[in-house]
Amino acid sequence: MMNFEGKVAVVTGGARGIGAEIARALASRGASVVIADVNEELLEQMEKELLAGGTEALGVKTDVSSLPDTDNLIAKTVEKFGRVDILVNNAGITRDNLLMRMSEQEWDQVIAINLKGTFNCIKSVTRQMMKQRSGRIINISSVVGLMGNAGQVNYAASKAGVVGITKSVAREFSSRNITCNAIAPGFIQTEMTHVLSEKVVETLKSQIPLSRLGTVQDVANAVCFLASDEAGYITGQVLNVDGGMVMA
Ligand SMILES: NC(=O)c1ccc[n+]([C@@H]2O[C@H](COP(=O)([O-])OP(=O)(O)OC[C@H]3O[C@@H](n4cnc5c(N)ncnc54)[C@H](O)[C@@H]3O)[C@@H](O)[C@H]2O)c1
Repeated sequence: MMNFEGKVAVVTGGARGIGAEIARALASRGASVVIADVNEELLEQMEKELLAGGTEALGVKTDVSSLPDTDNLIAKTVEKFGRVDILVNNAGITRDNLLMRMSEQEWDQVIAINLKGTFNCIKSVTRQMMKQRSGRIINISSVVGLMGNAGQVNYAASKAGVVGITKSVAREFSSRNITCNAIAPGFIQTEMTHVLSEKVVETLKSQIPLSRLGTVQDVANAVCFLASDEAGYITGQVLNVDGGMVMA
């Protein structure tokens, strides 16, 4: 089992869904965990849950689309825990619409949070990780960024952009022993996919070799692997966690 005793992890969008499960998974393996989210109420709940489980946890209200916010997130983390070993860029939104109907605002919001938010968090953590000469950055992309999806040009572009950031950061940071990888989840059971009708879910399942939607644990397990010491020779990669739906 991966062990994160003595490690400090920051998880954005950590108040619910996939991010909350990533926070739990890292915490249960010994990490101190900082969760960052715009949703203050859920953030507080999640911080309480982690503290109650004996984890050294901290919730920091953060809008990842704001660089001052992400600078504050990392400053608070270093102030409390002295270092940052793992950054998981998980915060993300959808604003779906066919391109013809998509508003400029729907485009801008998704790019600001999913794409620029990832840039902001990495920019904010750079100095600290460079100083430590170690670090693990894990960006949550999506299979939609690899294959496209009708009604999601904004989301697909943001998630494909995250892959571009991942590969470039992997090259820029490699000399400091910092790895950067992406995870591309397929369809995972969360609030984001709750809205899909039963018929759509059945059709989806028929396109997935493992014949089921993914769970938040499936994604969290992959994050733990990429965050571990054991994954030290892996960088610039995209790991699909999608039941075999997309094969390169
Ligand atoms: N659910 C899926 O099927 C699926 C598939 C592929 C990829 N993903 C990706 O996984 C990630 C998590 O998805 P989820 O299903 O858990 O979504 P979710 O909506 O359940 O959770 C996202 C979290 O991010 C937070 N958030 C939103 N905007 C933010 C901002 N500006 N700053 C900080 N936090 C913000 C939300 O408050 C929420 O707590 C997203 O990046 C999503 O694109 C999800």
